[in-house]
Amino acid sequence: MCAKSINTAPRTPSPMTDLSTTVAGMGFPNPVMLASGILDETGASMARVIREGAGGVVTKSIGLEPRLGHPNPTVVEVQGGLLNAMGLPNPGMAAYADEIREAKREGEKRGTPVIASIFGANPEDFAILARMAKDAGADGIELNLSCPHAKGLGLEMGQDPLMVRDIMKAAKASSALPIFPKLSPHVNDLEGMAQAAEDGGADGIVVINTLRGMAIDVEARSPVLGNMTGGLSGLAIKPVGLRVVYELYQHTELPIIGVGGIGSGRDALEYIMAGASLVQVGTAILYRGPGACGMVAKELEVELERLGYANVEEAVGAAHEGAGDCGRRIDGERGQ
Ligand code: DHB
Repeated sequence: MCAKSINTAPRTPSPMTDLSTTVAGMGFPNPVMLASGILDETGASMARVIREGAGGVVTKSIGLEPRLGHPNPTVVEVQGGLLNAMGLPNPGMAAYADEIREAKREGEKRGTPVIASIFGANPEDFAILARMAKDAGADGIELNLSCPHAKGLGLEMGQDPLMVRDIMKAAKASSALPIFPKLSPHVNDLEGMAQAAEDGGADGIVVINTLRGMAIDVEARSPVLGNMTGGLSGLAIKPVGLRVVYELYQHTELPIIGVGGIGSGRDALEYIMAGASLVQVGTAILYRGPGACGMVAKELEVELERLGYANVEEAVGAAHEGAGDCGRRIDGERGQ
């Protein structure tokens, strides 16, 4: 059993906290990014999120060919969050490249990275998509290996460590950009999966994607979503995301990007203390609007100052301090 004690080292409030950070060689004005799948259908909407203070944006997940996605209804609000089964609708990378270019123009003005999320059916698809995204100006690539309800495309691959490694390798070989696989909490061996990503050359790991769930309409005597099941996001999944980040931090040297139920600066700080170098905000956009990432970043700055941290890196993994034998080294070298 791991007897974890709380770090009570006294700190005096820091007069100024520097929110800017560098991860996998990429500079971010702050560590709070827009998560894939919300407000990222167009370059204009991502540009707005950037103007409103996001530290980075991740595009919608884009494949090689246009896809209509699953039948309606595709989204339903549930207690503690949202359930969605969009089915990876997208216009295909050839058509979407202009949206990346438009977001990138705004990103360049503010030093805000644009990361392209891609999905495919095999390593070759990912290799082609990674190159196309790079050519469109993306600063980094997120591999969606964890969509919970797209047959043959998401989670099925993300649950196979050899596939994760081979997709990583293929994407890396075709694009020199930093690449971040996004993994699911629905894996038995998280440590093995992180190792597979690392073996394939990953520059960091994004966790978690949505959890498989269902909503029932009792009048219709039927599941609500057209696809029956969908991915649960929002506050309800925050404890799962925190646990995954915390465990992953003990098993990988790679930077971790935390996502799942982050809607406030305090939520973001919890993820950072669990071990995340960057965080992403998705569902909270629905409640706080396009400025949600910027708001979370400002709140995070207040929290970090209050606790005496001069920068974000100092707080990364802080919840592991005093964790005893089950903790791992805290040497401040992560997240660079
Ligand atoms: C979809 C994709 C995801 O990766 C996810 O977590 C939820 C939904 C989708 O397009 O259906």
